[in-house]
Amino acid sequence: VLGGKCPFGGDTVGGAFTSKPTLSDWYPDRLRVEQLHSDGVVADPLADFDYETAFSGIDLDELKTDIKDFLTTSVDWWPSDYGNYGPQMIRMAWHAAGTYRIADGRGGAGQAMQRFAPISSWWDNGNTDKSRRLLWPIKKKYGNAISWADLMVLTGNCALEIMGLPTTGFGGGRRDSWEADDATYWGPEWIENSHPESFDAMVMRSQRWNGQPGDSDYELEQPLAASHQALIYVNPEGPNENGNPRDSAIDIRITFARMAMNDEETVALIAGGHAFGKSHGKVAAGKIGPPPEIAPMEDQGLGWSNPEGKGFAEYTMTNGIEGAWTPNPTQWDNDYLTNLFRFEWEKHENPHTGATQWRPVDPDAPKTPDAHVEGQMNHLMMMTSDIALKVDPVYREICLRFLDDFDYFTKAFSEAWYKLTHRDMGPKSRYLGPEVAEKDFLWQDPLPPHEGPVVGESEIGTLKQAILDTGLSVSDLAFTAFSSAATYRDTDKRGGPNGARLALEPQKDWKVNVRTGEVVDRLTQVKASSGLNVSLADLIVLGGCVAVEQAAASAGHPVTVPFTPGRVDALQEQTDPEQHAWLEPVVDGFRNYVMPEFSSVSKVSPEQMFLDRAALLNLSAPEWVALTGGLRALGCNHDGSTVGIFTDRVGTLSTDFFDVVTSMDYEWTKVDEAGTSFTVDDRATGESKFEASRNDLLFGANSQLRAISEVYAGCDGGELFVRDFVAVWDKVMMADRYDVTKG
Ligand code: HEM
Repeated sequence: VLGGKCPFGGDTVGGAFTSKPTLSDWYPDRLRVEQLHSDGVVADPLADFDYETAFSGIDLDELKTDIKDFLTTSVDWWPSDYGNYGPQMIRMAWHAAGTYRIADGRGGAGQAMQRFAPISSWWDNGNTDKSRRLLWPIKKKYGNAISWADLMVLTGNCALEIMGLPTTGFGGGRRDSWEADDATYWGPEWIENSHPESFDAMVMRSQRWNGQPGDSDYELEQPLAASHQALIYVNPEGPNENGNPRDSAIDIRITFARMAMNDEETVALIAGGHAFGKSHGKVAAGKIGPPPEIAPMEDQGLGWSNPEGKGFAEYTMTNGIEGAWTPNPTQWDNDYLTNLFRFEWEKHENPHTGATQWRPVDPDAPKTPDAHVEGQMNHLMMMTSDIALKVDPVYREICLRFLDDFDYFTKAFSEAWYKLTHRDMGPKSRYLGPEVAEKDFLWQDPLPPHEGPVVGESEIGTLKQAILDTGLSVSDLAFTAFSSAATYRDTDKRGGPNGARLALEPQKDWKVNVRTGEVVDRLTQVKASSGLNVSLADLIVLGGCVAVEQAAASAGHPVTVPFTPGRVDALQEQTDPEQHAWLEPVVDGFRNYVMPEFSSVSKVSPEQMFLDRAALLNLSAPEWVALTGGLRALGCNHDGSTVGIFTDRVGTLSTDFFDVVTSMDYEWTKVDEAGTSFTVDDRATGESKFEASRNDLLFGANSQLRAISEVYAGCDGGELFVRDFVAVWDKVMMADRYDVTKG
């Protein structure tokens, strides 16, 4: 230590690793390419762990018995309401699953993201930290053989079962994440500390909503599915906390549709969920401590400390609304709907918190026992979002049907719960365990089983020759194969080549797929004339393999592109056009596609959407670069244009694309003021050589992508590029093959 000073060389230590300001503070608009590598294997203590085998080794009945015993055994540090943790566990599981949104497949119960910020610390998740902590002894007992994500959903199921709901099933197989997600867009609003003190509902909503409920163009910004920041769905007090049930119904319909729920499923879930438990609102929000992410060290990861009374049990403060919906909140029954419709409800203010809530006008309406105070009976309670089900004409009809037929309601809720909690798991082949429902649901994008033997080596050789004999170009074959794979989203494991849904509605009609029609027709003929047991889906992928092999050979680096047969062809009736419409890309830089309306509606750049798509395909930055460079070399623009095709030998797997983006022989000039397209001119002669889009220039402009482009443009890059391209090509073609890889 020099001069008696500490090694930092001064008396003040002002910063350390990750201290602010960080890159994103300095350059908030920079493209955060490095986010492609977040939550990678290095962060995963179980990267090599065989979860499938471990999970299969559990006696699920024994685990469920343990969970059910736990649910009815109250502990002192957080006593259960009514002696049953079931309702709070249902809410935990619902909130875990309820972050799912169909626009980009993000959110959902699949990775136990409720453990990490920001989700852990959203006000709407108040006290779910207690629910998970209560579950820890069970998690500890079974260790890594049950992931948090599976345990949370399974506990929700157990809770429903002990209170009388027959559940539809449980599929395990969710693998936990291991770090906070700093990349998912949860909306534009910044709220300090995720604490209601810093909420101004009006201001927050105005940033993501166009207009007000009832306006004809009222709409929620994509890809969001919650009415404002820190909520799972809608504000229980109505939009802008306006206490208006009609307006609330409008918000519910929009947000639940973004979770892929139709009106009946929506009513079933809300009416079914609120058959259980209570809302907690005994203390003003301002007195409650900070959320888990920034709670004091001594609170050991628990947030929202409550200084009032005991701070729990009858003093519990979660949402700010107080009361239970039914006279028996630990029993599956139809009392929620019965009382909703039997009584007039009046709005009033919760005296403890000021929240708007509703109570029956009729003084003789049934009461509900207090969750903790022996002998105390309380008014029934409804939230504005509950009254919404009664006033909206469509919801009302559904409620009346449910009221009339409890068995029908029971089945509707049970199946909607199964969908809610499994929606983001992808194909049924990913589900593990003995309780997977036998029935196939349309939302699972079902596939027919593979019948008969898969094609062998020599048959594959015959098929490759037959594909070559069609005379289809390398470019068209590669484009079609990639297009069939490009729908894949690692977020909810939907899309991908299996099923050949490229040939079905709606994909076959997407503008971005316009080049695929003829190829699909010709490959269908190959299938028919071959007499072999091969699917169209396999032939589309095999066509891509043939194309890439030809292109690699032309570049002087012959390779065999891996091909794993066994795909099947889905039927149109197994493919819900409405649910598949969400898979259509808005921007697909791989195929140099930007939806025509994009620039007029988007607040983000095409390249940010391109990064988003690379993330959905689960690519690393080097994979993203190699895949794009290869697709340009193969001439895979959606419209067959030459934009970004920086080569005069299309169909050769060359590094020409990288040569051009890294070369100072060229000058780049934007064509339009906004800088959406560019010309590439020879710097010496001024001759215009190429046209380019933002999604081409990106690979020379962004420092991280440029650094990788330089690797392929270097003197020793050619062979490496072919190898890397083939590897990422195979990865993308195999992304949805859960039948062979699980994952
Ligand atoms: C509790 C709102 C939908 C299940 C609550 C609470 C609120 C709320 C504010 C009270 C939280 C507390 O203070 O402890 C909403 C809104 C919904 C909705 C606005 C949609 C419009 C659902 C759904 C389910 C569900 C779909 C499940 C299928 C529950 C349960 C509780 C609860 C079981 C009781 C928790 C306990 O007793 O600790 N809900 N909810 N809710 N919610 Fe919902």
